[in-house]
Amino acid sequence: MSTDESVNESANVSIGVSAEVTVLGLGAMGAALAGAFVDAGHRTTVWNRTRGKADALAARGAVAAASAAEAVTASPLVVICLSSYGGVHEVVGPLAGELAGRTLVNLTSGSPVHARETAVWAERSRAGYLDGVIMTTPSGVGDRGFLQLYAGSPTAFEEHRATLAALGEPLHVGADTALSSVYDTALLGLMWSTLTGWLHTVALIGADGPGGNVSATAYTEVADRWMQTVRFFMRAYAPQIDSGHYPSGEFPLELHRMTMDVLVHACRLRGIDSRTAELFRDLADRAVAAGHAGDSYARLIEYVRADGRPDGRAEGRLDGHMEGRLDGRTDGRPGAAPA
Ligand SMILES: NC(=O)c1ccc[n+]([C@@H]2O[C@H](COP(=O)([O-])OP(=O)(O)OC[C@H]3O[C@@H](n4cnc5c(N)ncnc54)[C@H](OP(=O)(O)O)[C@@H]3O)[C@@H](O)[C@H]2O)c1
Repeated sequence: MSTDESVNESANVSIGVSAEVTVLGLGAMGAALAGAFVDAGHRTTVWNRTRGKADALAARGAVAAASAAEAVTASPLVVICLSSYGGVHEVVGPLAGELAGRTLVNLTSGSPVHARETAVWAERSRAGYLDGVIMTTPSGVGDRGFLQLYAGSPTAFEEHRATLAALGEPLHVGADTALSSVYDTALLGLMWSTLTGWLHTVALIGADGPGGNVSATAYTEVADRWMQTVRFFMRAYAPQIDSGHYPSGEFPLELHRMTMDVLVHACRLRGIDSRTAELFRDLADRAVAAGHAGDSYARLIEYVRADGRPDGRAEGRLDGHMEGRLDGRTDGRPGAAPA
């Protein structure tokens, strides 16, 4: 049997079967995670620094452990969700021996560097390690409509995927443990740009003027359907970006650029903040000026990268760029593993 076959078999066997899981940290999010495991019928052991926070979960059927060590040894799968990685290291740092042979899933928010440091520590402790991100608020935990992102050992992920599915839709984004927090930041950025773009257009269509006075609710019925077209463009443009070729099809950058003028004008006319519209018009201006009027919209990636200088990559400016930005460090390399 190949490794893949054994992995799949193990995942299938565990679907619908009660598992044993420990949750360390019962703040707003940790309590929601533990509650979702209890609701899914898993034997859930819980621990929190402030002990009283375990009472409500114990009343629902969770087992309240007297210490973090006792909680860790109760289950093969240990989920930790604290306010910071510093707290994670304080709690699990002294428990390397207890964690050996188990899988630690860290759902604490942190940077890519934190994730890699903790993965190095877990490997030294002979524990499986997944670094995860909860893409919802506590009330959304347990709803399969929300994604949970995991990065790290594919084997550990497959082994515990069915149990983790109690929290939401589990998605493995790669073996590099830094990836979950990089995805988190990128996806939040996408959410903020989309929501801000939507807010601008709600203001625009709701303002006085020719047409206008449309309610946010009425407009959003139409905008929601339009998002299908936006998704279509994203899927069409992603391979273009990966290949570095930007054939326009029927919608060249030049046409986008002309319509952007209309948007900037309409915003100014109605007293709406026009800076976001000016931002993408500026990107398009530079691409058109450089001779890319006949390319697709995806060409603008070259003006978004490296502060808008298409040659930024060739200068090697992006080495460690993402990690440095997200962590405030400049070397982009993981530091020493926690004690
Ligand atoms: N809440 C959300 O909407 C949300 C959404 C996505 C992701 N998250 C992430 O989930 C994580 C937890 O958030 P939360 O909302 O649950 O925070 P929270 O309600 O403030 O709870 C923080 C938890 O961390 C524990 N803790 C902090 N420092 C500790 C230490 N040194 N040793 C032991 N335990 C320690 C606290 O224990 P005590 O009870 O003893 O203080 C508590 O259990 C964060 O990384 C957050 O970014 C939260």
